[in-house]
Amino acid sequence: MHTSRLLLSAALILFSPLSVAEISAPKPPSAAVASAHPLATDAGITIINQGGNAFDAAIAVTAALAVVEPAGSGLGGGGFWLLHRASDGFQTMLDGRERAPLAAHRDMYLDDKGDVIPKLSIDGPLAAGIPGVPAALEHLANQYGKLALSQSLAPAIRLAREGFAVDERYRRLAGFRLKALQKSPAAAAIFLHNNELPATDFVIQQPDLANTLSAIAQQGAAGFYRGAVAEKLVNGSRAAGGIWTLEDLQQYKVSERTPVKARYRDIEITSAAPPSSGGIALTTMFQILENYPLEQLDKATRIHLMTEAMRRAYRDRAEYLGDPDFVSVPLKRLTHSFYAAGLASTIHPAKATPSDQLPGIADNRLGSDTTHFSILDREGNRVAATLSINYPFGAAFVPAGTGVLLNDEMDDFSSKPGTPNIYGLVGNSANAIEPGKRPLSSMSPTFLEDKGRVAILGTPGGSRIITMVLLGALEFATNKPPQDWVSAPRFHHQYLPDQLSFEPGTFSSETIAALEAMGHTLKERSRQYGNMQAILWDRSQNSVTAASDPRGGGLASTVK
Ligand code: GLY
Repeated sequence: MHTSRLLLSAALILFSPLSVAEISAPKPPSAAVASAHPLATDAGITIINQGGNAFDAAIAVTAALAVVEPAGSGLGGGGFWLLHRASDGFQTMLDGRERAPLAAHRDMYLDDKGDVIPKLSIDGPLAAGIPGVPAALEHLANQYGKLALSQSLAPAIRLAREGFAVDERYRRLAGFRLKALQKSPAAAAIFLHNNELPATDFVIQQPDLANTLSAIAQQGAAGFYRGAVAEKLVNGSRAAGGIWTLEDLQQYKVSERTPVKARYRDIEITSAAPPSSGGIALTTMFQILENYPLEQLDKATRIHLMTEAMRRAYRDRAEYLGDPDFVSVPLKRLTHSFYAAGLASTIHPAKATPSDQLPGIADNRLGSDTTHFSILDREGNRVAATLSINYPFGAAFVPAGTGVLLNDEMDDFSSKPGTPNIYGLVGNSANAIEPGKRPLSSMSPTFLEDKGRVAILGTPGGSRIITMVLLGALEFATNKPPQDWVSAPRFHHQYLPDQLSFEPGTFSSETIAALEAMGHTLKERSRQYGNMQAILWDRSQNSVTAASDPRGGGLASTVK
């Protein structure tokens, strides 16, 4: 690609009108909810049928997922809720990401020799940041919802009291974290049966969690961050080696951040702002790919160029990104089309760039932790929310009497520059631990919009989240339906390790041979990953369709 062509296309992108959001839209013919668990989707639909809007439904789905999908998210975790208000087109990202406790410090997971102590940032209360989900629930209700918080929380409280049935996915994730769960008596009492993996259809009831949810329903966020629940959280975590204080909980506040916006052809992309890396990395990748006629290229060349775009975006993630309240993130520079044009000019059309020839650091992640849901209501309000307690079942620790599974989001910090975390992610000082700081995230709740269509999508999957959203968005760009976005085969490159990983069956042997000939190192993963939840409102067809990833056990529903 010639630099002059790149600069011309960059200039066109820069000066083309960003006007899709201004097109006046009729209301959608139906509402839709897509989430990782049928009972959580039902909770959202129930609240919409009771007159709630998408934001009330988001409260119901968030709280229900905390009950029925404990491996992925919960009151003891955090997340990002990307919101679109139909009445005035206002968009914001509600940042309910966990914060490091006030007693946290840069070297808290290192031994005397400066080496990372294995598992200290993964298992048990020392791994837990101060949760943001309860504060986000209150904020959603007070600032955006139509219903009382207690009404939107009612389905989750009922599910916690009545219980939910264990399925195969639960068994796989709980089996993966069995040893850690067995170490926390309160966690084992809730999530195991006689201290072992529960059988399929065993019913998990959570009366303590129901009481904690009821305290939030009655008192708002204070029901969690102050009073009896707060005392139990602090006492329980400190008794097991944690460092939380009542002050940590009282000080927790959500933030509203301006979402990151980018364009790819005629599509406007709206995605997560720092402390997520998602929006910036997606912008870089789309702006690089804008320079190529992807559909006209042979498959191997297309995959090669996408891989090179991924490699460069993830290098910058590791180098520059962290909590914007603590570090200066060069957002303008990183999202400028001229910057992407410069990166694109370093891509050879038929040769892989070895990652060690790019200046920088590194990163990598697995992916069935975390959760995502998408909601559209009949007014056109939208929510894309990606929530997490990090590793499956978080820190696998419950402070007694709370029913709250603590996160291990502290592992998303860079414990030591250049040393990978549990998923192989590395970072530098921009993402070093500091008291009150939010760890860098890959969660990327996203809206896509062109003249006739609106998409709401996202997925769990650690560092792979961003490339999964990229692949889903490229399906949207070629007019495919949501079922294709969520089920398309996946591949991923994240700069380091320098390998192009892919789901089983994604590439033919010819494509693999062609990519290897270009210098790529390929790694076929042992299993599929991700759990995308997506909604399409096609304004030109007056239709709403929703899809839940066939890899997960979720449900997408529409309601007239
Ligand atoms: N804990 C997953 C993420 O925030 O990227």
